[in-house]
Amino acid sequence: MSSEEKKLTVPDIIGMKTRKEKIAALTAYDFLFASLLDQAGLDIILVGDSGAMVFAGYNTTLPMTMDNIIYHCQAVCRGVSHALLVADMPFLSYQVSTEDAVRNAGKILKETTIDAVKIEGGEEMTATVNRLVSIGIPVMGHLGLTPQHIKQFGSYTVQGRSAEHANRLLNDARALQDAGAFALVLEKIPISLAKQISEHLKIPTIGIGAGPFCDGQILVTPDMLGLFEKFKPKFVRQYANLAEAVKKAGSQYLHDVKENRFPAAEESFEN
Ligand code: KIV
Repeated sequence: MSSEEKKLTVPDIIGMKTRKEKIAALTAYDFLFASLLDQAGLDIILVGDSGAMVFAGYNTTLPMTMDNIIYHCQAVCRGVSHALLVADMPFLSYQVSTEDAVRNAGKILKETTIDAVKIEGGEEMTATVNRLVSIGIPVMGHLGLTPQHIKQFGSYTVQGRSAEHANRLLNDARALQDAGAFALVLEKIPISLAKQISEHLKIPTIGIGAGPFCDGQILVTPDMLGLFEKFKPKFVRQYANLAEAVKKAGSQYLHDVKENRFPAAEESFEN
């Protein structure tokens, strides 16, 4: 299917699991990359709160605000005509109360053309998921290494390694599905657990560092393009080295300007 043919919907994404068609998702934070990824045919584009790190330079995702995410969503939405668009709900925009979650998720849907929101957490979030879904706001869940819990985890380590924790995550996954979530991100959990959760659920699982048995995969775009240099998680496959390309282009331009080789006559205007 060409990327211009059809705007994907939540039922389309669920249908991909039924047809055993893998779901390809990436993140975007601006018009330019969103538009390029949409033209590449991606199924889902997530406006991730990872933007706090890879766009804004913070050390965690916690500083992302509602105003920030709406700004990023508006830019991304202008570039996308095919992919399903999902927005991360920022830290503390949905945890304080269900009313807060409704107001903030509703604000994202009213002020942008985002199709769904993503929230982190398991069983403790089911009342919120249920309420959002009941008023027509599709919700993607997120389990495993949930970055908004980084202060509690202490490090970005693999989750669900013990039998007890794995069991808890499986129960969380079931609870989120029962509450109405249409898909679930599984981040940094063992292959066997991701396989078990994916086989148990009717809704698609989208893995990041969760092995090959998830129904789809997601990566943070600046990681897979080799643009983000602060650290490289083991689960990232780098499909380009844009950091080197940008540095090389920047340095060539600098030399051309310093040595008066730019602009040339054909790049200038006569009277
Ligand atoms: O914020 C983000 O980019 C995410 C992905 C890692 C799934 O939540």
